[in-house]
Amino acid sequence: MRVEERASAERVLAARERFVPRGVATTDLVVTRAWGARLWDADGREYIDFAGGIACQNIGHGAASVTRAIHEQVDRYLHQCFMVGIYEPYVALAERLDEVWPGVAEGDAVYRPGDGGFAAVASSPGSRPTKSILLNSGAEAVENAVKIARAATGRDAVVVFDRAFHGRTNLTMAMTSKLVYKQGFGPLATDVHRAPAPYPFRGVSVDDALHGLQLLFKQDVDPQSVACLVLETVQGEGGFIPMPEAFVQALRALCDEHGILYVADEVQSGCGRTGTVWAIERLGVEPDLLVSGKTLGGGLPLAAVTGRADVMDAVHPGGLGGTFGGNPVACAAGLAVLEELTAPGFRERAEQIATLLHARLDEIAAKHGNLVGEVRGLGAMLALELREQSGEASRAVTTAAREKGLILLSCGLYGNVIRLLPPLSATDEELEKGLSILDEALGG
Ligand SMILES: Cc1ncc(COP(=O)(O)O)c(C=O)c1O
Repeated sequence: MRVEERASAERVLAARERFVPRGVATTDLVVTRAWGARLWDADGREYIDFAGGIACQNIGHGAASVTRAIHEQVDRYLHQCFMVGIYEPYVALAERLDEVWPGVAEGDAVYRPGDGGFAAVASSPGSRPTKSILLNSGAEAVENAVKIARAATGRDAVVVFDRAFHGRTNLTMAMTSKLVYKQGFGPLATDVHRAPAPYPFRGVSVDDALHGLQLLFKQDVDPQSVACLVLETVQGEGGFIPMPEAFVQALRALCDEHGILYVADEVQSGCGRTGTVWAIERLGVEPDLLVSGKTLGGGLPLAAVTGRADVMDAVHPGGLGGTFGGNPVACAAGLAVLEELTAPGFRERAEQIATLLHARLDEIAAKHGNLVGEVRGLGAMLALELREQSGEASRAVTTAAREKGLILLSCGLYGNVIRLLPPLSATDEELEKGLSILDEALGG
C-alpha cells in the first residue's frame, strides 16, 4: 500500500512536470487526504496545516456541515446557470450575506475583543439593505466590484494601494502590486492609480499614507473622477499588514467627501479569518461594496460582491453574470460556511486561538530576535516578518517546517513574511505542535 502510494506520488509529480506549465508555481507536496487542521501526503505522512489552502479552510478541511450540504445539493440538481433558471441556494446565500453585512448604524458598538469583549459586538443587521452577485473567484469578484462602482458613479478611475493583491486577471493584475504577477503580461488596464498604505514596521505611518493619497489626488488623478478605492482590510499576499482603524476611517471620510465608493477586499481577511465574519467589522467602518471569496465556498469555487442595493442596481440588466457564478453546489456549501461562522462560540474560539498564537509568536520572535522583526496581524490572522528583505531565510524556514511536518506559507513583497492560516477548528494541541515546529524551523 505504502509502496503503491509512493509510486503514485511519483506519477503525479511526473505528470505535473509533463502536462502542467511551470508558470503555476507549485511545491512537490502531493496531498491525498485532508481533515480538520491536518493533511496527509502520498507517503501517508501527516502534516499540521497552517496554510489552509491559502485561507480557504478557515473552518477546517472536510467540515461535516459543509460536506453534508454539498452531498444533499449534488443529489438535488447541479448546474443550472442562474441566468437561465433561478434557484433557491443562490438567493438564500445573497440573503445570508445581507444578514452578515458589516453595517454601522449611528450609536453601534464596534467589536473589540480585548476591551468590552463579546457584549460589545454590534448587533445591528446593517444600516442599509444590500444585494449580492455570486462569482467563481476572488479576482472575478474584484473585477465585478469595479464594474459596479464605475456604473454607479459614471467615473473611470480606480485607486489601489502599495502591496495590494487583488488577483491575476487583466484588471486585477493592474491593481495588484508585485512584479511577478504582471511582468511580461502587458498591456495593463489603465486608470488604476496606486497610493501608499500604512506599514508601521517599515516606517510608513497613517499620516504618511494619507499624505501620499492627497499627493496622488493633486498630481495624477482628480478625486472627482475616481469611481472607487479598493483596499484589503488586512493586506494578505502583501505581508499580513492590518490597516489601522484611523487609516480606514480617514479613507471612508475622503470617499464621502469626493463621492468615491469604498470597496473592501475581504477575500483573504474575511470569512472568519480574524474572528468576526469580516475584518472591517472591527474598524467601525461600513464599506459601499465588499468582496468575499476563498473560505466562502468551503473549498468550492465561490466569491461574491455584496453592496448597497442602490449601488448594486446601478448596472443595467445583462451587464453582470457568468455561466458558473453562484453554482448551486457552491452556494449550498457557502450557506453551511456562513452558518458555522455565525454559530455560537465561533468568535470566542477564534479569539482564544488568536491569543494563543500571538503569545507563542511573541515568545518565538523574542527567542529568534536576530531573524524575526515583528509579529503582527488582526485576530487570528497573524504573521512573523523576518528582518531581512529577501525570500531566502523564509524559504529555508518553510522548507524546514515541511520536513518536520508543518505546512507554512510565506508572503510579502520580498517573500520574507511567514503567515499563519491554520483552520480555526484546530485543537490547542495541533496549534502547539505547529508552533513548536515553527520554532524549530527558525533554528531551535
Ligand atoms: C485579497 C485578495 N483578493 C483577491 C484575491 C484573488 O482571489 P482568487 O485567487 O480567488 O482569484 C486574493 C487571492 O489570494 C486575495 O488574497
